[in-house]
Amino acid sequence: MSDRREHMLEARGIAKSFGALKVANNVTLELDAGERRAIIGPNGAGKTTLFNLLTGEIAPDAGTVLLDQKDITRLTPDARARRGLGRSFQKNNLFRGLTVRESLTLSAMIALGKARQFWRDPGSDVEIAERIDQTALWVNLAGELDLPTDALSYGARRQLEVGLALAARPKVLLLDEPTSGMSPEDTGIMLELLNSLPSDLAMLIIEHDMDLVYGAAQRVTVLNYGEIVFEGTPEEARASDEVKRIYLGDWGDHHA
Ligand SMILES: Nc1ncnc2c1ncn2[C@@H]1O[C@H](COP(=O)(O)OP(=O)(O)OP(=O)(O)O)[C@@H](O)[C@H]1O
Ligand SMILES: [Mg+2]
Repeated sequence: MSDRREHMLEARGIAKSFGALKVANNVTLELDAGERRAIIGPNGAGKTTLFNLLTGEIAPDAGTVLLDQKDITRLTPDARARRGLGRSFQKNNLFRGLTVRESLTLSAMIALGKARQFWRDPGSDVEIAERIDQTALWVNLAGELDLPTDALSYGARRQLEVGLALAARPKVLLLDEPTSGMSPEDTGIMLELLNSLPSDLAMLIIEHDMDLVYGAAQRVTVLNYGEIVFEGTPEEARASDEVKRIYLGDWGDHHA
């Protein structure tokens, strides 16, 4: 067994049912500092629900979540975020009517418990301003900082969503289908962006796009009916008969 002290995020025996539907069935997984792991699985497998259980949007029926070796199972989503658990959502989730810079600043200030200062004087904090410039570089939006978020292309909006999570400077980032609905070009940009992030940032990425899985993740976890049915490298996942069966042959033909 690997050394527990290294784990940035750990789920132990997480279980959750919605009525008769078991959406998380004894889910145990570990994410080390700097590790990038993809979570794949069919629609309805329970991937987003697992993120909601990790972030505290939903309470588990059983099991424990640890962040940086501390039990966070009973903390609110805000408290988990302040301890370094960041997430971006599967569906577009931007502040309306703000510019890119304002959105990133607000996200950083919320994370620092300074949201009220934002509404008084958003540009007042030099440290945050520097953080926002760095974040904008990471997510390829340095040239768009003063545009309203409504003016961004779809791909740029999704980049901003990753930026909003990064503005809080998480230790662990959970990304729910960061390339869903994107063109192949924008998917390529997202892949480069994710690979340019600081190497100590741990990431769990729910993803259907196999180019992104191959390009961004060292490990793959396959979820089916709320249960982990496979763990390994992307290459091992592709060679696995069980994984192939689950995907019924629609496993990235362009990689063949
Ligand atoms: N709050 C809820 N109450 C009842 N059922 C729910 C709730 N949230 C999700 N479900 C159900 O749990 C199952 C898992 O949903 P979830 O959104 O986690 O799947 P997913 O793997 O993220 O799928 P997708 O790839 O389509 O995003 C689905 O059958 C869904 O309908
Ligand atoms: Mg989902």
